[in-house]
Amino acid sequence: MPELALLEEVVEKVRPLLGKGKVADYIPALAGVNAQKMGIAVTTPDGVTIGAGDYLEPFSIQSISKVFSLTLALMHYEESEIWSRVGKEPSGQSFNSLVQVELEKGLPRNPFINAGALVIADLLQGRLGAPKQRMLEIVRDLSHNHKVTYDNVVANSEYKHSARNAAIAYLMKSFGNFNNDVDTVLKTYFQYCSLKMSCADLSKAMLYLANRGQNLAGKQVITAVQTRQLNALLATSGLYDGAGEFAYRVGMPGKSGVGGGIIAVIPGDMSVCVWSPELDANGNSLAGTAALEMLSQCLGRSIF
Ligand code: DON
Repeated sequence: MPELALLEEVVEKVRPLLGKGKVADYIPALAGVNAQKMGIAVTTPDGVTIGAGDYLEPFSIQSISKVFSLTLALMHYEESEIWSRVGKEPSGQSFNSLVQVELEKGLPRNPFINAGALVIADLLQGRLGAPKQRMLEIVRDLSHNHKVTYDNVVANSEYKHSARNAAIAYLMKSFGNFNNDVDTVLKTYFQYCSLKMSCADLSKAMLYLANRGQNLAGKQVITAVQTRQLNALLATSGLYDGAGEFAYRVGMPGKSGVGGGIIAVIPGDMSVCVWSPELDANGNSLAGTAALEMLSQCLGRSIF
C-alpha cells in the first residue's frame, strides 16, 4: 500500500499539466465538466482504500464500463461464444474507428474498442433479461456503493449524437455479427458508458482484477485464470492506440474512458483509479497517465 502522502504528492506534481489536454466534447453533456478536477485512489487486497484530490467525486466512467461488460459476458457465456464474435488483438486504430470493421468483415479486434464493446452489449442483450439493471447490480456490488447510478443526461446526449456508433453496429450487422435490434443495444451501451463513479468506487470495484478474481467481499467474480486473461487484454488493448506508450510509461494493465478516468492494476498488489478530464490525442487522460507513471516509478512497481 502506498503512503497517503505519496498520493497527495502525485496529485500536486501533475497539477501543472492541467490545461495541456482537451476535454472530450463529442458527447455534448461531457463538454461542461470542470477540467481542474484531479483525483487518485488505491485499493489493496486487504480491503483498504486511500485517496487524494477529488477522489470521492463521481465522474462519467465511459469506456471503463467496457471492463464490467466483458466481465458480465464472462459470467454468462461460454468463452467460445464470446471469442468467436470478438478478437483479442490490439487495434492500432482510434477507439471509434470503422475502417477495420469493414476490412475484417465485421469482427472487432478486441472488446475494448467501441465495435467490440457493442458486440459484447449485443451478447448481454441477448441473454440477460434486464441488462441495464444487471449491470447496476454488479457494479454496486463490486464497489460496495449502492448509490452508484446512471447519468441519463449523459446517456441521452450520446444517443442524440450516436451516428458513428450506430454506423459501427449496422456495419457489423451487415456481416451477421449483431443479433439484436441496433437501437436497443445502442441505448444499453450508452447507459453503461454513463455510469457515474468516483476514483474510490472504481478502485474498489476493480480490486478483483488485482486479487485473482475475488472482490472486496472475498467473493469469486470470475476465475483466477479469466482474471489473468482479462488483465492481458487490458495491457495490450485497454488504452487503444496508446496502449504501447502506456505500457512503456506505466507498466500496468489499464482501461481509460473519455470522461478522463483510468483504472490500472498491479496483480496481487493493488487496483488504482485516477481522474483528470483533459485527454491526450489518443483519448486517454493526459494528467491521469502522468499520475500513474509517477506512482509506478515511486513505488518501483510494474508488471514488466
Ligand atoms: O462510445 C463512445 O464513444 C463513448 N461512450 C466511450 C468512448 C471512450 O470512453 C473511449 N475511451 N477513451
